[in-house]
Amino acid sequence: MKVLITGGAGFIGSHVVRLFVNKYPNYTIYNLDKLTYAGNLANLTDIENKPNYKFIKGDIVDADFINELFAEHQFNAVVHLAAESHVDRSITNPLEFVFTNVIGTVNLLNAYKSIWSVSSPSPLERAGVRPLFYHVSTDEVYGALGDTGMFTETTSYDPHSPYSASKASSDHFVRAYHDTYGLPVVISNCSNNYGPNHFPEKLIPLCISNIKNNKPLPIYGKGENVRDWLYVVDHARAIDVIFHTAKLGSTYNIGGHNEWTNIDVIRLLCKIMDKKLGRAEGTNEKLITFVKDRAGHDLRYAIDSTKLQNDLGWKPSLQFEEGLDKTVDWYLANEEWLTNVTSGAYQKYYESQYVKR
Ligand code: NAD
Ligand code: DAU
Repeated sequence: MKVLITGGAGFIGSHVVRLFVNKYPNYTIYNLDKLTYAGNLANLTDIENKPNYKFIKGDIVDADFINELFAEHQFNAVVHLAAESHVDRSITNPLEFVFTNVIGTVNLLNAYKSIWSVSSPSPLERAGVRPLFYHVSTDEVYGALGDTGMFTETTSYDPHSPYSASKASSDHFVRAYHDTYGLPVVISNCSNNYGPNHFPEKLIPLCISNIKNNKPLPIYGKGENVRDWLYVVDHARAIDVIFHTAKLGSTYNIGGHNEWTNIDVIRLLCKIMDKKLGRAEGTNEKLITFVKDRAGHDLRYAIDSTKLQNDLGWKPSLQFEEGLDKTVDWYLANEEWLTNVTSGAYQKYYESQYVKR
């Protein structure tokens, strides 16, 4: 069984690749990644020499390259994670998000369609494996909630940022290929992930890095926006279960039932890191700095993952406090990783986003 995982050098993708490579030695896992600023092969050093793992550097926006790749390898299944993933970058450069998230996804769908056939048993079906195009998406496609309610799989799409608009568009294309051509697809929409290997442009790793370096912790607006946090390994576990058992054509929401305001997340992080860095209680909180809000900032996300829990038996394994503690330990133990990703282009990005904000 040949499984293509796109974006496998990124934050979530690297955890999915690791889980599949270790748990399924009889699958060959191909990791296709462009290695943008967010892709990092240092996330995968523990599995890079495994016999069932292969890395391919490439761009999903390049249709000719993608078509040739699928023709050559005849992948049985695809888990598609490659994307531009940061909302703030989508506000400054929306077109990049259209290229990768929309056109890149359609290129993959076309290539997969060309090696899969509805009318006669395809080579994949003859080989006795379930063909699947699994599209990994986000809860941001549903828009924003007020003080109450949760996103379910039937909530209408209402994306607000260029990032979420591009992901919503890609979700629609995936469903369209199922409804029009019968392509065997599955989609999952997940809430905010956190954990090891998270690029420090996102709230939690950015603040871990800044606390370590005694730098201000930039909180947008009043810090009252709410996110539903899930440990990244629990997301990878959900992807594993959905990949193997979900009904074709279906959608699953994935979330931690774990809502926090941003300011409370950062206060908790400050407390954890006071202890770990041997600083007096309250020291890190003094770094909190309220800055200009994100344009179009969604107030609240909350995921109802009852369908996934009841139908497929998945549930999160970690409490937030425990997961955050483990995450901080990972960053403190992987100083070189953090130094490498925060040098060079990151400094320019940081300056453009935060200096004079
Ligand atoms: P990330 O930014 O950490 O990683 C994205 C990966 O995709 C990188 O390795 C990058 O090099 C690769 N990539 C980007 N453009 C590419 C291209 N044109 N061709 C090939 N590879 C390319 O993202 P992440 O946080 O790991 O998110 C992975 C997926 O999960 C995305 O589709 C995202 O929308 C979705 N998602 C993320 C979260 C979250 O909280 N981070 C939550 C729900 C869903
Ligand atoms: O909900 C799932 C989504 O979660 C994923 O689809 C996205 O790929 C992922 O980036 C994440 O999006 P968010 O915008 O919610 O994540 P981010 O870490 O950028 O921001 C979390 C919250 O913190 C959000 O309300 C904005 C706020 N924030 C963020 C940054 C970077 C700050 O207050 N200060 C910051 O410096």
